[in-house]
Amino acid sequence: MTRASEHGFTVEQLRQCVEERLQRVPEQLSPQGVLCQIVAYVVRLPGKRMRPLLCMLASGSEGASPMEALEAAVAVELFHAFTLVHDDIMDRSLLRRGQPTVHHAWGEPLAILAGDVLLGLCYRLLERYREHPGFGELIGVMSSAVLEVSEGQALDLELPQRQPRLEEYWRVIEGKTVALLQAALEMGAIVGHVGRKTREQLQRLGFHLGRAFQVQDDVLDLTGTEEELGKPVGQDLREGKLTYPVIRALELAPEHPLLVRYRQQRGARPEEIPAMVALLDELGTLQEARQLVAQEYAQAMQILEQLPQTPAQHLLRELIAQLEQRSY
Ligand code: IPE
Ligand code: IPE
Ligand code: MG
Ligand code: MG
Ligand code: MG
Repeated sequence: MTRASEHGFTVEQLRQCVEERLQRVPEQLSPQGVLCQIVAYVVRLPGKRMRPLLCMLASGSEGASPMEALEAAVAVELFHAFTLVHDDIMDRSLLRRGQPTVHHAWGEPLAILAGDVLLGLCYRLLERYREHPGFGELIGVMSSAVLEVSEGQALDLELPQRQPRLEEYWRVIEGKTVALLQAALEMGAIVGHVGRKTREQLQRLGFHLGRAFQVQDDVLDLTGTEEELGKPVGQDLREGKLTYPVIRALELAPEHPLLVRYRQQRGARPEEIPAMVALLDELGTLQEARQLVAQEYAQAMQILEQLPQTPAQHLLRELIAQLEQRSY
């Protein structure tokens, strides 16, 4: 399934283009400075590069070349990197993509600054589109994403202190994960001069893709391996997060001693993690989450089939299939 599209690109080749451009980003910073070092470290860590690929493929969804959106795509990846650096401080995570997190390696003050710099670099790249008729809109979409992701992340922190409800969970996800996927697609669409109808379809596609992706992230955190995930298993449980399988378990068995303790202690102790995972499995909430992920991916695929049949549509289908199969 790595057939080249009519533009001559495969998903892998586009990923390679993103990778090469990303590696040149630190050149914008003074080479002796520590922030340059940190940014170089961050962009070198292996990521799936899903958001830049979505951006490029959205820009090609009515036939334009995905390469037109390369700068915007890399801007979106820098934005993502900014949210991860700050997220790791918030979640007290020590490992990211198999390597020490920025705050673990350089300390929190520099990690906060590095996050800020990544956001600045993101806007710097967007300046490349200043002659594009959609420039103002492009900046607007990126700025809205800053607000939405931050609100989602704030709610994610607050959730453990509230009544666990799925409705609130979905509000968190729509902020912290869906918003950036939709922004990536929207920005690609703007760069590629995509019409209103296709843009709306891409937004709906991003909605289902984002929901699928985050519930899958919740499940992988419990069932993956440290080697594949590049971070410890059960990190969410340690932090007392209310992820999809946990919220459903609290609905089904609120009196279970493990769950009662989880709520009281605001998290599980490392030695309690295997028992918690076994409980979620027994209650069927892991399986339920997996089914939900499959349903959301199926809905994304259904919308994809209604998009104009372009080479980018083909590649988008391949990318979504890759994401559904992911193990990290
Ligand atoms: C991690 O995103 C943050 C979430 C929204 C779940 P990814 O799983 O896309 O992380 P990388 O970029 O591949 O490391
Ligand atoms: C992160 O969500 C979302 C953002 C960075 C905005 P998570 O906290 O679930 O992501 P991971 O599991 O650390 O990658
Ligand atoms: Mg988090
Ligand atoms: Mg996290
Ligand atoms: Mg997670």
